[in-house]
Amino acid sequence: GSVAVILPAAGSGRRFGEEENKLFALLGGRPLWTHAAEILSRRCEVGRILLAVSSCDRDRFEHQVRELTHPERFQIVIGGEQRSDTVAAALAEIASSNPGASRPEIGWVAIHDAARPLVRDSDLDSVFARAAETEAAILATPVTGTLKRTGLDGDSGTTFDRRGMWVALTPQVFQLDLIRQAYQRHRGRAATDDAEMVERMGHPVALVPGAADNLKITYPEDLLVAEALLSERLK
Ligand code: CTP
Ligand code: MG
Repeated sequence: GSVAVILPAAGSGRRFGEEENKLFALLGGRPLWTHAAEILSRRCEVGRILLAVSSCDRDRFEHQVRELTHPERFQIVIGGEQRSDTVAAALAEIASSNPGASRPEIGWVAIHDAARPLVRDSDLDSVFARAAETEAAILATPVTGTLKRTGLDGDSGTTFDRRGMWVALTPQVFQLDLIRQAYQRHRGRAATDDAEMVERMGHPVALVPGAADNLKITYPEDLLVAEALLSERLK
């Protein structure tokens, strides 16, 4: 496989509110981060997976990697303070271990939040295919609610037309040199996703409609929803 997957897992899960990293919470009886890890490691496009963790969680992740179906496909790297620092650290590791451009082993990078356990293979098919055509493609889902924007008084809101508005999901898939350059040039300015770094280079990022249930576990109630969705899928 010519795709390297980066799984950012180096957060602390502050909003989830538990003592330990939310990624160790159980979903369907196993640590929630292992769901996306297993799905991605079974893909034929995927050559290697960089699991980016914080140093305090390292031992626990290492232990859990050994329980996966394809432990040899995983490599643990140490992440950073912000998510973008974590992704930058993983990109640096890919650069230092990828042989010369004459025989590139890895041509693509797919970045997927370890906290999104319910990504579907059919969505992976679409986003990988679109990225191969456009060099940059992300899963996204149309905004469903009515959007309001607060005015200068910070209090009253006015309606913001939701037509053409999307919520970004992951994976976000990029041609390797494109995402490396984007991080080198624009890392100083924080971004909430990887696509924004690429947009700043003036490079278009294709939006690929994906299932809205590819949710990110942020608050404890998200885990309840994910548990229900998972048991529905297994029926
Ligand atoms: N992440 C990371 N490095 C960081 C921050 C976040 O790798 N410095 C990862 C998280 O582990 C998670 C994903 O990025 O898999 C999405 O981040 P988020 O949902 O915000 O997770 P946390 O940062 O852990 O949670 P919180 O913001 O509530 O502390
Ligand atoms: Mg966070």
